[in-house]
Amino acid sequence: TAHGVEFSQQLSANPKSAEERAEILANPGFGDYFTDNTVIVDYSVDAEGKGGWHSARVEAYGPISLDPSAAVFHYGQEIFEGLKAYRHADGSVWTFRPEANSARLNKSARRLALPELPEEYFLGAIRELVQADKEWVPSGDGEALYLRPFMIATEAFLGVRAAREVSFRVIASPAGNYFGGELKPVSIWISREYARAGRGGTGAAKCGGNYAASLIAQMEAEANGCKQVLFLDHFNDDAVEELGGMNVFFVMKDGSLVTPALTGTILEGVTRSSVIQVAKDMGREVAERKITLAEWREGVASGDIAEVFACGTAAVITPIGVLKDETEFIGSEDAKAGETTMAIREQLLGIQTGSIEDRHGWLTRL
Ligand code: COI
Repeated sequence: TAHGVEFSQQLSANPKSAEERAEILANPGFGDYFTDNTVIVDYSVDAEGKGGWHSARVEAYGPISLDPSAAVFHYGQEIFEGLKAYRHADGSVWTFRPEANSARLNKSARRLALPELPEEYFLGAIRELVQADKEWVPSGDGEALYLRPFMIATEAFLGVRAAREVSFRVIASPAGNYFGGELKPVSIWISREYARAGRGGTGAAKCGGNYAASLIAQMEAEANGCKQVLFLDHFNDDAVEELGGMNVFFVMKDGSLVTPALTGTILEGVTRSSVIQVAKDMGREVAERKITLAEWREGVASGDIAEVFACGTAAVITPIGVLKDETEFIGSEDAKAGETTMAIREQLLGIQTGSIEDRHGWLTRL
């Protein structure tokens, strides 16, 4: 193949019909539907202790059969990624900065004591799956095929050590707005009690455990009518970290942007880094620095902060309306999407969908 890795193919014998697919693509939502196929690459360590990736294949999407003692079920040895395939106006299908996701997967792998996956396997897997399931790439505004690569420890063994058998997989799901319905500003709940990550922990790794640990705070947010939860560093002046599943940006009165610096407890978002570049290309200054809850509160009150938005592969760029808890209310419930927020969203989506020039070589044709 183009990436030097051979994937054997046993495509689904039972793909969804064109009508079923069309019905799903008419209103894909987020994460509810999956394509007909999946990609798998296995890893094992041989008798000499040498590890290697093998059995790269495309096969029908379906349940995984694993031993109940598989390490992933007990110690959460798991990492994942998120990226998208976009349909351009001429029908061609492209993905965005897959090398960045491949590099981040391997960074997560090191932290979770999982084997690194050579980039050619990662890129090959994305290409193979999208080629098999090309019809599933939607073309509506803000829609794309969400790709979910993940790596799990499959070895059957209950001792606590790095597994010697591992599986890398990719699944794909047609996606519209992560928050459902039309794009509109979301409300965010302040997590006073729970933290997302601590120093030396796994906050910078994209591992399932981080998201499992966010759910109780996310439930609190939802019980209070909010769409996402904001995590702070309670031991560092309530510095803003990130939301349950996305990074956060501030648009200042002078047009510059501020986003929390990467401290090791924050997920290094590919969308975050792309927003920084796109904003600079638009002539804006971007500061990666500490920004506290107090600065958010005072900045909105004084007008120094003009807009706040969330960003991520799943979230794209979503305006934030209010930030609140039982004691605070920052922003406004009927806030309109900010102009700068929407301009950056348009630039980024324009590059991804081929209507704006790809100046940085971010796109790969699939
Ligand atoms: C993504 O944005 O791709 C993520 O992995 C975040 C998750 C909350 C959907």
